[in-house]
Amino acid sequence: MIRLETDRLIIRDHIEEDIVDLHKLLSDSKVMYYLQDLKTNSIEESKLNLRVSINESNSDSREKYFLAITDKKTDEYIGEIGVTKLLNSKFGNKFELGYFILEKYWGNGIVTESSRALLDYCFNELDAMKIITGCNKDNLGSEKIMKKLDMVKEAEFIKHVVLHGKICDCVEYRMLQEEWEKHSG
Ligand SMILES: CC(C)(COP(=O)(O)OP(=O)(O)OC[C@H]1O[C@@H](n2cnc3c(N)ncnc32)[C@H](O)[C@@H]1OP(=O)(O)O)[C@@H](O)C(=O)NCCC(=O)NCCS
Repeated sequence: MIRLETDRLIIRDHIEEDIVDLHKLLSDSKVMYYLQDLKTNSIEESKLNLRVSINESNSDSREKYFLAITDKKTDEYIGEIGVTKLLNSKFGNKFELGYFILEKYWGNGIVTESSRALLDYCFNELDAMKIITGCNKDNLGSEKIMKKLDMVKEAEFIKHVVLHGKICDCVEYRMLQEEWEKHSG
């Protein structure tokens, strides 16, 4: 079971009791505006999502680390952060990072704080050699997190995805293990 602790937060594997909070988050149109593939429209869909996450947390060949962010003091549910293993090689593993939290918590540095803890865990415990993340170019808050983490911009994709009927550009950032060591050492 994963349980990471930061100054203000606990970042942990899911439990069955997360369903109400998780569904509230996954079905929120504003939160999920840029994450249409993940948005759910019924509690059954959200339950499936939670099941996948809990099954993965019990798996010996785990590839998805979807974690709940909670307030350390109050135990309140804040949102989600996770990494998915994209590549497993003798050189190390490559992961993709993703995050989304309830709107009332936006703008308090919570995802930056959570991402630092999770990146650290990936590089120290999961043999990560590279972690990537990306977003729609209009999603300034999300790109700001990548910049605050000192990630390196690797790509800008023009006319890359269709979102809400519009063609959109995307950016992608990376952190290599040696960059993380230099940065956090
Ligand atoms: C994007 C999101 C994850 C940010 O989480 P957060 O905890 O508010 O992020 P942080 O506070 O750590 O950092 C965000 C930074 O972007 C800034 N920011 C937020 N919205 C912004 C905007 N529209 N324009 C410019 N900057 C913005 C914040 O002020 C903050 O910078 P600061 O620390 O210099 O003040 C959150 O808003 C969210 O869940 N959004 C919906 C889901 C989503 O888009 N997920 C990412 C998909 S790729």
